[in-house]
Amino acid sequence: MAAMPPSWPLLPAGIAMLADGLVAEAGTGPVGLAAADRAGSVPLILVHPACQGRGIGTGLLAAAVDALRAGGAGKVWAGSGGDRYIWPGVPRDLPGAVAFFTARGWRHSYDTLDLVADLAGYRPPAAAAGRAAGAGVSPALARAGDLAEVMAFEAATFPSWVRWFSARTEGILVARDAEGKIAGTLLLDGPDADTVYAPMLGPAAGTIGCVGVAPPLHGRGIGTALVIQASQLLSQAGTRACHIGWTASEAFYRRAGYQPWRRYAMFHSPASSRPRSAAHDALRYAGPPGLRESLQPREPEPAAQVATMRRVAGNPPRMMRLSTSARR
Ligand SMILES: CC(C)(COP(=O)(O)OP(=O)(O)OC[C@H]1O[C@@H](n2cnc3c(N)ncnc32)[C@H](O)[C@@H]1OP(=O)(O)O)[C@@H](O)C(=O)NCCC(=O)NCCS
Repeated sequence: MAAMPPSWPLLPAGIAMLADGLVAEAGTGPVGLAAADRAGSVPLILVHPACQGRGIGTGLLAAAVDALRAGGAGKVWAGSGGDRYIWPGVPRDLPGAVAFFTARGWRHSYDTLDLVADLAGYRPPAAAAGRAAGAGVSPALARAGDLAEVMAFEAATFPSWVRWFSARTEGILVARDAEGKIAGTLLLDGPDADTVYAPMLGPAAGTIGCVGVAPPLHGRGIGTALVIQASQLLSQAGTRACHIGWTASEAFYRRAGYQPWRRYAMFHSPASSRPRSAAHDALRYAGPPGLRESLQPREPEPAAQVATMRRVAGNPPRMMRLSTSARR
């Protein structure tokens, strides 16, 4: 926990979703960890402040990337890119973290952001309300009988969101065109939304996400109508801070009354330029989840101070315990 600044507390729900990674040990105990998501990301990398600047993070990152590549991952992303993520990319308000990935040759492709609004007594800005009224849609929550049609819409229009919609039976807002066909959809949750950021957002937090309008219907106010209706529903239910995660549509959400919250640099790893490393072998040696192996590097690694790396897998509580025990 000491490795994270007050602006980014170690988020328990985020730690709990980590299932695989490497722990660096020096002397008597763990001094850092790199989580590794086999679908192709490093969701979290932490080094105890007293041990920073000694190459431990560099070694952990290289080992995690090697292990993921050995498992078949192509591009490895920092933050998201795997099956679960705590944050979309590298938080811009952690400049040391951005510099860390930049200095190791990771490629920055674009920035993304989160926005929030306090929905207590939410009233949409007048211009947005007028635009929504002119869109000719009346977004309504999906009922059980709508779900198959919603899934077909997502599969055809926003296939990358199917996994999020298929996990839900409630909190799906649907806008239909004049003929009754689905024109746009959105996911909402709150108050007390299921979000890793709940400790940072405060009580009665909500979320809005996966806002999508059929491309031929863009620019008619349907997206604005969806966001405003979702915000009003959440507000009436008692939601306070409402979080819209991971978007590039800053102006769109600002017009509906939301303000930027955090920004993220999206980094992916450089192409592999070195032969298989000792860390790669460490994961192969690790065998079943939890098995511990010592590691004797066969090539000079910047993290020479890392005496042992061990793999933890498939056991989030164990990862939580290890990260907590890094506190000194
Ligand atoms: C983002 C998205 C939902 C917007 O839906 P939409 O129905 O086109 O939204 P609107 O018509 O209300 O507003 C879109 C455009 O209309 C114009 N517009 C909106 N309000 C306006 C106003 N008051 N005055 C003038 N122009 C306005 C703008 O060009 C605006 O684009 P911008 O927000 O990028 O600047 C839609 O583009 C989409 O589905 N994109 C793909 C999925 C996605 O990226 N979703 C967001 C991430 S969760």
